[in-house]
Amino acid sequence: MKLSIIGTGYVGSVTGICFADMGHQICFVDVDQIKLDAINSGKSPIYEPDLDNLLMKNRTKITTTTDIPEAVNQTDLTMICVGTPQKTDGSSDLRFINDAAYSIGKALADKDKKYHTVIVKSTVLPGTTSNVVKPVLERESGKEATVDFGIGANPEFLKEGNAVKDFFHTDRIVIGANDPKTKKTLEGLYKPLHAPIFTTNIKTAEMIKYVSNAFLATKISFSNEIGNLCKVNDIDSYEVFRGVSLDCRINPHFFRSGIGFGGSCFPKDVHALIAFAESQGIDTKILKAVIRTNDDQPQKLIALLKKHLDIRGKKIGILGLSFKPDTDDIRESRAIPVVQALLEEGAQILAYDPMAMPGFKTLFPRISYAKSSKEVLETDALMIITEWKEFFDIDYKGKIVIDGRKVNKARREADIYEGICW
Ligand code: UDX
Repeated sequence: MKLSIIGTGYVGSVTGICFADMGHQICFVDVDQIKLDAINSGKSPIYEPDLDNLLMKNRTKITTTTDIPEAVNQTDLTMICVGTPQKTDGSSDLRFINDAAYSIGKALADKDKKYHTVIVKSTVLPGTTSNVVKPVLERESGKEATVDFGIGANPEFLKEGNAVKDFFHTDRIVIGANDPKTKKTLEGLYKPLHAPIFTTNIKTAEMIKYVSNAFLATKISFSNEIGNLCKVNDIDSYEVFRGVSLDCRINPHFFRSGIGFGGSCFPKDVHALIAFAESQGIDTKILKAVIRTNDDQPQKLIALLKKHLDIRGKKIGILGLSFKPDTDDIRESRAIPVVQALLEEGAQILAYDPMAMPGFKTLFPRISYAKSSKEVLETDALMIITEWKEFFDIDYKGKIVIDGRKVNKARREADIYEGICW
């Protein structure tokens, strides 16, 4: 099939390159020529293990353009993969979705009779595809959805750092379509992956994405709350959850208690769901508590440090700046509130991350950055924020370590060790 992918951010790049590897022709569209130049030169615009290799392997199947109509005209199906950033009130900003729909609609007006399908892959609240995207497409094209062109939602469940594997070996594919033709098109597209396909209506598919992320975020905040309780009772929360998840009704994943969740999805999606519910007069007490617990965890780490050190004027080593290992992404990283709080307390900071330092420098240009994790050892105390593999090999002997991610070697070796919730 010929697919156009609008937006070469995280979701768009991974999706497009993986579909190319499945044998499809891909046309990437972005307003940012720099990202397209990167793709053309064989380099993915985002860092993701294996993605550059796959891009190089499939280069002949990939083209790029800044022009949506050009991409729509030469393809059979368009996936909207643009960002839906969070507004100050927690709701989603649909500006990029609207812009994409407008241009696709214009293109559909002129496109020949061949049936075109438009799929929303961006994370959008229930109702967005049918109430926002569809009317714009119909108005601009003068055509009718499901009669003249197909429309659907197909949320992604890709974890950063594992996205290529997640694409090819997913637990499930969720297809939202209100008409048989779109259902069939999407089911056919994903069939070669041999993954369970869950087909439902568009609104339900959109909801599944939010509920999945909200539930996972809830699991993490729950494990953190229990972990905080375990800590004061000298109980290892990890052992507790190992015991708890032997119950087959309780899945063992995402019980890693620690400094909390960050990234481009969980915080944003939980906030959006809260705002969505509130706009309909529904008070989501659990979801609000999920966010509160998550916001409190970094402050707990600071309080633990203060137990052992008068922070003012001291040099504090920060191990890990990305929101999780194997990515350079610092969006909503727990390192941000930690560094902020330490600076407010008058500390000097020496930070290290294998990949995320360039991005972090744009947020905190004045703190010091180390060339290696070893260099960070020359500080008054260490704080572990991200569980990068190399932090499991450092010599922590004689150090004060405040750990937000359960690095057992530090626990065994450090002179003074505090785990955030174990
Ligand atoms: C998430 C979802 O997992 C994915 O399905 C969705 O489509 C996009 O959002 P991602 O944000 O890439 O993926 O990372 P994920 O591995 O889910 O971790 C998110 C955050 O939760 C990280 O900060 C991580 O450190 C934290 N986390 C995760 C925990 O604190 N404890 C856990 O047990 C698991």
